[in-house]
Amino acid sequence: MKVSVQSTSPHEHTSPLLAVAVGLSKRLPAELHLLDRAAGGQLSLAMADLGGRSGATHLSYLPGGGRVLLVGTGRKGAPDMESVRRAAGRASATAQKFKCDRLWFLLPGSGRVEELAQGAAEGVQLGGYVFNRYQTMDPRPDTLKEAILICAPRQLKAATRGAAHGTVTGWAQAAVRDMVNTPAADWTPARFAQVASDAGKRHGFKVEVKSPAQLKKENFGGLLAVGSGSANLPRFIRMDYRRGKGAPVVLVGKGITFDTGGISLKPGADMDQMKGDMAGAAVVLAAMVAASRMKLPINLTGLICAAENMPSGTAYRPGDVVKAYGGRTIEVLNTDAEGRVVLADGLAYAQTLSPRLVIDLATLTGAIIIALGHHTAGVMGNDDALKAALMRSAKRTGEKLWVMPLDAEHTELVKSDIADVKNSAGRPAASSSAAAFLSTFVGDHPWAHLDIAGVDLEFKGTDYTPRGPSGFGARLLIDFLCNLR
Ligand code: BES
Ligand code: MN
Ligand code: ZN
Repeated sequence: MKVSVQSTSPHEHTSPLLAVAVGLSKRLPAELHLLDRAAGGQLSLAMADLGGRSGATHLSYLPGGGRVLLVGTGRKGAPDMESVRRAAGRASATAQKFKCDRLWFLLPGSGRVEELAQGAAEGVQLGGYVFNRYQTMDPRPDTLKEAILICAPRQLKAATRGAAHGTVTGWAQAAVRDMVNTPAADWTPARFAQVASDAGKRHGFKVEVKSPAQLKKENFGGLLAVGSGSANLPRFIRMDYRRGKGAPVVLVGKGITFDTGGISLKPGADMDQMKGDMAGAAVVLAAMVAASRMKLPINLTGLICAAENMPSGTAYRPGDVVKAYGGRTIEVLNTDAEGRVVLADGLAYAQTLSPRLVIDLATLTGAIIIALGHHTAGVMGNDDALKAALMRSAKRTGEKLWVMPLDAEHTELVKSDIADVKNSAGRPAASSSAAAFLSTFVGDHPWAHLDIAGVDLEFKGTDYTPRGPSGFGARLLIDFLCNLR
């Protein structure tokens, strides 16, 4: 979707839909009075009823045929970024519903313009998100091609900056949704590697793909074990973006393209959702592209551990001992705890890059859903400053994050009788014991682990997140990278 900024008066609007975010008030904002007159006073009447309550909307038609949508932000005084993101999300979903090709969105007259424009640019791309690639009969309408953010002349410069940023972050999150939506049959480890290579060529970062033969030669035992049950063999994808000084920030993504559980087979119900078990890796790829598009002055490496977890005659089994990259041994008690087995390779490999810090993202545990539900991700790690920085980013992006414990007691839980660690430690504190397992493959550098198992899918649909893959984590990581010092 094309997003641009113009300073025009709202009553000069020529688009099929003009959307306006209105704060908590019975009175129409002054800049809408001319438009209200054209609408025969409908807007001020609607405002008196609506009061700008959060999520409340009102649609009116102008005599010429144009539509005006009021969207309440529920905010008294100046709106914040998240409330504008939500309003813009609703506006673009409405535009899609009416099969509009263009949307005008009026930026609020007060507040921090740059942030609000960023939020609006994100919201318009995310709220009207549609994935209809596989629908041939009655494809879900995806007509909205352009959003124009309207502002006052004095706001133009800051709004243009904010919109440029939000265009990339909104795109990145939508790109994650596309990848997660794509069926596992069409999104194999090899395909993942191909898409990453193409993205690297296009956006200017280096991509190295390790083939199954190379994985064998270099002893990526975790990826090979997890991938051994599938005809779609595993890949390790390394992406390097270099535009700064010093040690690289390293991102590691769990890229299980489908998780059946393997020999420890999952129950059948809802197993289709496990095509999304590569959401962490999708976020890593999207963040690489975003960093390149924004020309961030940093060194960034993305590592993707891509494998398909299938049961078969060649699959790894419970009881097997696997040697991860770097030599540590893992007793496999449950082949469904495969994410940590592939991440063991990725985190051990990350150590060899002498990283400034490492962040991994993974749809790792069902337990994080029990603990935090579907709208908050868990963060664990070995460095308070890093966790605090991620929490600050989460506040700004509206992606909720909560620090879960990771203590010596959890590390005790994953010790194995016959190997270094075991990949399953039962039900108590299962998200923390999973993180403790990961921590044994982490070097002497700051590290944080994001468990996004609960948040990668949206089940109800919210203001800027339709039902389906949410793309959680893309904006969060990009914000973190933008605010590195
Ligand atoms: N991919 C799953 C975790 C998951 C569950 C993601 C639900 C999204 C929704 C992971 O590989 C898994 O199966 N974890 C097991 C580990 C257990 C066997 C130790 C779990 O959490 O149940
Ligand atoms: Mn699993
Ligand atoms: Zn999994």
